[in-house]
Amino acid sequence: MENTSETVCGCQKKLSLETRLVHGATPFDPSTGAISTPIYQSATFRHPGLYESTGFDYSRVINPTREELERTLALVENGRHGLAFATGMGAISCLIKLYRPGDHFIVSEDLYGGTYRLFQEYYRLYGFSFSYTDTSDFGKTEAALRPETRALFIESPSNPMMKVTDIRGCARLIHAKGGHLIVDNTFLSPYFQNPLDLGADIVVHSGTKYLAGHNDTLAGFLVHSRDELEEELRNIQKSEGATLSPFDSWLVLRGLKTLALRMERHQSNALKIASWLREHPRVEKVFFTGFPDHPQYDLSRDQARGFGGMISFYLKNPADAPVLLKNVSLILFAESLGGTESLLTYPVVQTHSAIPEQMRLSAGVDERLMRLSAGIENPDDLINDLQMAFHSCG
Ligand SMILES: Cc1ncc(COP(=O)(O)O)c(C=O)c1O
Repeated sequence: MENTSETVCGCQKKLSLETRLVHGATPFDPSTGAISTPIYQSATFRHPGLYESTGFDYSRVINPTREELERTLALVENGRHGLAFATGMGAISCLIKLYRPGDHFIVSEDLYGGTYRLFQEYYRLYGFSFSYTDTSDFGKTEAALRPETRALFIESPSNPMMKVTDIRGCARLIHAKGGHLIVDNTFLSPYFQNPLDLGADIVVHSGTKYLAGHNDTLAGFLVHSRDELEEELRNIQKSEGATLSPFDSWLVLRGLKTLALRMERHQSNALKIASWLREHPRVEKVFFTGFPDHPQYDLSRDQARGFGGMISFYLKNPADAPVLLKNVSLILFAESLGGTESLLTYPVVQTHSAIPEQMRLSAGVDERLMRLSAGIENPDDLINDLQMAFHSCG
């Protein structure tokens, strides 16, 4: 819902991000004083009379718990409108329906494999076309523009190679053509980066990750300030029906309260682990945007307030990969990222398996690559766990 002055008090907009995350759009339930947003576990709502409504009719369309979450997401991403979905993919699928057959998109070549699969295996069938480009290279992005390009879809930092794209530059480029800049902000979360402030039109989140933060629920979001798109996005959202349930909405609201603390810890853990990995004799290269020698370190510092908790690294010997995955014990071998528990992922067979080999290899996703989502455990315990697992490699 829209964060107008009626729905969010002016003083809340002026509060710091950490405080907004804790208190949300509505700091307490006005009817009961409940500090935790009530879970309105109701599919439908009684009408007082014909043509009368409490403002809530049917939960696919609007639900009070989800509405509070949507308003909170808009508040912390500095947008006017927030929409919550059952998953990140549900959010992306809704967004693409804003466009029409024949429309062309420029997409970061290094991106979550599920997004690639949705675009290539499904939306292509309906007449959309996609050019996958290294969007961290401005010249390549510019060269991919066509007369029918309607949007640029980027991940920054990208999943899994941690490339950083110039959000302001991309906004200028696509706006000159009358198109939209869409930024998947999953990796940094609104705590470290607010793409709308940098000129993006729509922000996407897999709320499953840092926003919910506890590896216990799936969620997805769109946040924007384009009033002219809001009615249609709402209409697609309610027509498709991939909306977030009241209980899952509450879980994300609860997760958001600690986002600031968690992101700081994810980041400091990631920095310690990445620095340790860099010195390890079995590791060839570490990709972490917080290293001053990362190719886009200055750009990261310019457009974000932090580097996040994600690390990727190449092993010298790909045969070490299965041994590591089998022998980590505190760190869990699993898909996903952004939760309290550290997870180790093997993109080539997990998150990026849907991407054709040639494209995957040219993006750098090969059998040497491991991805680590640093959790919030004690960093020495995590390093000891990796140390032990590396010992098993021989
Ligand atoms: C960057 C990114 N965007 C979108 C998604 C899709 O989100 P979900 O799994 O919540 O559908 C993922 C999932 O891993 C992701 O990593």
